[in-house]
Amino acid sequence: MKFDLVDRRCIVTGASSGIGKEIARNLAYFGATVVLACRSRERGSVALQEIAEDSGNDRLSLLPLDLADPESIQLFAHQVTTGDAPVHVLVNNAGTFRETRETTPAGRELTWATNVLGPFMLTNLLAPSLIEAGPSRVVNVASKLAGGLDIDDLDFETRSYSGTKAYKQSKQANRMLSWGCQQRIGDIVSVNACHPGGVNTRIYDNLSGLAAAVMKVGRHFMKTPAEGARTPTRLAADPELGNLRAEFWVDEAPAKCKFRDRAAIDALWTRCVALTQTDL
Ligand SMILES: NC(=O)c1ccc[n+]([C@@H]2O[C@H](COP(=O)([O-])OP(=O)(O)OC[C@H]3O[C@@H](n4cnc5c(N)ncnc54)[C@H](OP(=O)(O)O)[C@@H]3O)[C@@H](O)[C@H]2O)c1
Repeated sequence: MKFDLVDRRCIVTGASSGIGKEIARNLAYFGATVVLACRSRERGSVALQEIAEDSGNDRLSLLPLDLADPESIQLFAHQVTTGDAPVHVLVNNAGTFRETRETTPAGRELTWATNVLGPFMLTNLLAPSLIEAGPSRVVNVASKLAGGLDIDDLDFETRSYSGTKAYKQSKQANRMLSWGCQQRIGDIVSVNACHPGGVNTRIYDNLSGLAAAVMKVGRHFMKTPAEGARTPTRLAADPELGNLRAEFWVDEAPAKCKFRDRAAIDALWTRCVALTQTDL
């Protein structure tokens, strides 16, 4: 896999580890200017240094971003577009799995805030830059593990919480909001979502009990992060995929998505607008 991205400026969220780090590494190899958007400055710095040494690309930078913190997202969006710097590619990769229910200072359930509201807000704030720099691309790293979204209880205030339920809800929303975004942002920006496969990363470190025991063995049969990065990288960079709009990709091929009900997408979109005070 090798594409020419020399004139492209790309943002990868969650580039400090796992799949995001490998997406950033690929884009760096392709010659892009890459912004590693990372919560952990320490892990982000290590990733940046490693990718810079590997790729020989000196147009890499690290900017702090905590997707569970709206102020951090505002600041990041401001910094990354300073001086009208273009944004050609936004890869919304960062994500979390929380075994127990945690909330942000604003009272949002942490999985929902990190996996859904954060990327929704970030994409909306960067939309003018993406449109201006078009044709441009948004790639949302979703999952096949998706479903159970309850628009009346997004924060699990009334339902019993489980990490899997919260994660599946967030990944369903990632897909629905991808389709909603594509419809609103226009054709100059392509918006696609993907499942990277089952990938052996730190995301499984939060498991406990039986799930942890099963994964201790199971994770060694999963894809490597580099293998998991292939589908999102191609959606971000492959010139042959520039005409895709609102597609769900698995294993480098289009796949069916059952979360395409227009009324449900519009209702979710409206709710996320109200929760983030951002819109397209
Ligand atoms: N692994 C799989 O089998 C699998 C399957 C389907 C989908 N996915 C999706 O793939 C994406 C990447 O996950 P991964 O498997 O590579 O896991 P990972 O190694 O744990 O990476 C997750 C990344 O997200 C970042 N992150 C977490 N919370 C954040 C926050 N509040 N603000 C900003 N960044 C934050 C982490 O940063 P820190 O370094 O600061 O923790 C890390 O860079 C996720 O969206 C996940 O849902 C993974």
